[in-house]
Amino acid sequence: MNKRVSPPWEEEILDLERSGLKRRLRDLSGAQGRMITLDGKEVLNFCSNNYLGLADDPRLRRAAVEVIEKEGVGSGASRLISGNMAAHRALEETIAHFKGTQGALVFSAGYMANVGIISSVFGRDDIIFGDRLNHASIIDGIVLSQAKFRRYPHCDMETLEEMLRSATGFRWRGIITDSVFSMDGDIAPLDKIVALAERYDCLVMIDEAHALGVIGKHGKGLAEYFGVEDKIAIQMGTLSKAAGCFGAYCSGSKALIDFLINKARSFMYTTAIPPAVAASAQKAIQIIRDDTMLRQLLWENTHYFKKALDQIGFDTLGSQTPIIPIIVGESRLTVEFSRRLWDEGIFVSAIRPPTVPVHTGRLRLTVMATHTREDLDYALEKLKMIGRGLNLV
Ligand SMILES: Cc1ncc(COP(=O)(O)O)c(C=O)c1O
Repeated sequence: MNKRVSPPWEEEILDLERSGLKRRLRDLSGAQGRMITLDGKEVLNFCSNNYLGLADDPRLRRAAVEVIEKEGVGSGASRLISGNMAAHRALEETIAHFKGTQGALVFSAGYMANVGIISSVFGRDDIIFGDRLNHASIIDGIVLSQAKFRRYPHCDMETLEEMLRSATGFRWRGIITDSVFSMDGDIAPLDKIVALAERYDCLVMIDEAHALGVIGKHGKGLAEYFGVEDKIAIQMGTLSKAAGCFGAYCSGSKALIDFLINKARSFMYTTAIPPAVAASAQKAIQIIRDDTMLRQLLWENTHYFKKALDQIGFDTLGSQTPIIPIIVGESRLTVEFSRRLWDEGIFVSAIRPPTVPVHTGRLRLTVMATHTREDLDYALEKLKMIGRGLNLV
């Protein structure tokens, strides 16, 4: 019998420490915003998915407080067990109305939505095609579903079509894609995916996590941008990014929503989001719908920043959204770039494998509507200076 000297995590954490790659949590005081206080130091924030600045919006705060007064703080249990609170119902009605679907169902997080939706809709007699850069929660949902899984190279529609052509004998064929790829900032060719899905009779599911509130005339996401909303059976999105809150939704037909209520284990077997979170998320959806100025500011900042980064000579991949990567390469160098920015009062996380493929370590910058022109210019000046010092440009 093997005798273990120390538990497996001790060795691994020492390895990470020795190689200078150990991650740690930094303490944030105060709210999420364009400026944050981390480990006691005030820094300019380029790390947050809080694209519209709603995480600290007084209208959302008020909505939460009002509901706490009426409904308290906890939701007690799963909604199937302890009841569907008024704040949950109001949020789902608002989402369904906004998305123009028959219904919507709220999950406790984007991760749980993907895992629950995919593993209940698909099973071992099905095949799923997914973009190689899809979010980890989609991959985990597919693994749990036991469906056969084929990954196609990033946004490569020719290969996807070849795969579809040769996939016969399955109950369902599904195509699942992120709308906006969270580490590259580019968008899925949804018009082409929908055309292929029609030709090869597939179900399409999209993850609008980084598109809700950001893309589309009304901020409904990539399906709106491409005008294919009615062609997508399963539209999932999060309430934790541009909406500034927490949780996620699936929008679609009434039958789909009823099915998920009965079959999605990550909905059935977990406590519902607190009513105050539901209320602030509902307010966020209303702001996204009504306040087009925030989205306009976000895109003005995004275009300005991306253009300047490209002019400096950074490799920003094919970013088309407020997520703008700067490719660095090796993990150590990426961490060093991030550390030097920190010294200059700019917070940008170093993203390394396994989150991204090896040798593609990067800074992942996210632009917010609330960044001022001075914020952007200061960051550009320091990025240029440090990038030159590290021979990246
Ligand atoms: C594309 C994508 N899908 C799903 C998620 C998970 O969402 P959540 O953070 O709400 O669990 C994220 C982010 O974390 C994401 O980037």
